[in-house]
Amino acid sequence: MISSKINPHRKAHHSALFNVAIAQQIRGLHEKMPQYRNTPLLSLQNLADHLGLKHIYVKNEADRLSLGAFKVLGSAYALARLLSEKLAIPLADFDFEQIARDHAQSMVFITATAGNHGRGVAWIAREMKQNAVILMPKGSSQASVDKILALGAKCHVSDLNYDDTVRLAQQLAERYQWVLVQDTAWETYQEIPTWISQGYMTMADEAIQQLLYMDLALPSHVMLQAGVGAMAGGVLGYLLDRLENTASAPLTVMLTEPQQAACLLHSAQQPQAIPVAITGALESIMAGLACGEVNPVTWPVLRDGTSIFTAVSDQLTLRGMDLYAHPIAGDPIISSGPSGAVTLGLLDYICRAKDNAAMQLKQDFGLNQDSVVLLFNTEAAL
Ligand SMILES: Cc1ncc(COP(=O)(O)O)c(C=O)c1O
Repeated sequence: MISSKINPHRKAHHSALFNVAIAQQIRGLHEKMPQYRNTPLLSLQNLADHLGLKHIYVKNEADRLSLGAFKVLGSAYALARLLSEKLAIPLADFDFEQIARDHAQSMVFITATAGNHGRGVAWIAREMKQNAVILMPKGSSQASVDKILALGAKCHVSDLNYDDTVRLAQQLAERYQWVLVQDTAWETYQEIPTWISQGYMTMADEAIQQLLYMDLALPSHVMLQAGVGAMAGGVLGYLLDRLENTASAPLTVMLTEPQQAACLLHSAQQPQAIPVAITGALESIMAGLACGEVNPVTWPVLRDGTSIFTAVSDQLTLRGMDLYAHPIAGDPIISSGPSGAVTLGLLDYICRAKDNAAMQLKQDFGLNQDSVVLLFNTEAAL
């Protein structure tokens, strides 16, 4: 049910790409979007009491801009950067509504997606009256396709897995001179994915600000779910920088992937932590996390900053979804999908289960009655 590895490569990490200063500039840009609102930070205090923890806080991205996931934070920043370059508008003067008014149809964006990223790209392209072409891997549900079509984008389902669908999007971008806006990177494609991961820092910045405003304890532990690691790397880079001199103990970080797509865990197991890919069908109900290739832009943050890498079965995310939907009396009900709920399912499991693997993992993660655990519910129920 769970594989885990204490990270032998862990060391202090200061990222020039993912830090508080950059996050706050980007949040300033996000705040210019007319519909922008903070998502809620929720407390699962009754569950925390039950599990013998001090607090559990959940940053609830199910409510992000009515899109049901955090991903639009990355694509909104990337499209703003691309349009500001193309139209020679300084980023400081960038105005989403003015682009729609004065510069409609300036660019065509293409991406491959398991669902959430594509919805984000389609939405922000529509808001700025630009064009979006969205490719989805085989097996994608008609419901996900329909949500993208409803945002005015073109949407096609390929007969390839996620990673090969990304390559197809790259080929189409080259053929038609469209701009690839992909939420993962490779050796020759890093600038746009860097912007996307930087955009994700906004949710971490909001979360820490919300804790401070409410005079709540800062996290001692964070659990992040990962596909290629674009989200986890951005958020972790921010948190390491933000909490460096504030948390009483160094932040303890657990990364979680689906068992069939554990490219980060496998990479951490390599002697030099050189990224390795997982190939094949990568089947998991955690569609947003079913990715076999590590994002090289965010890997250095995850390689250095993660305390424990884990890979888990679908069963654990079902447990997490159930706990969010049917919480202990007094805790809020939270809508969470398979890629959003896995960290709660894992937390609950390692705190309750009496098998050796779970008890060992709880001990390795250092959970006890003083622990303040921060989770990100990255998507709403489908
Ligand atoms: C709901 C959800 N959570 C988390 C992620 C994080 O994925 P990644 O590690 O690829 O950034 C994704 C990516 O699509 C997602 O859709």
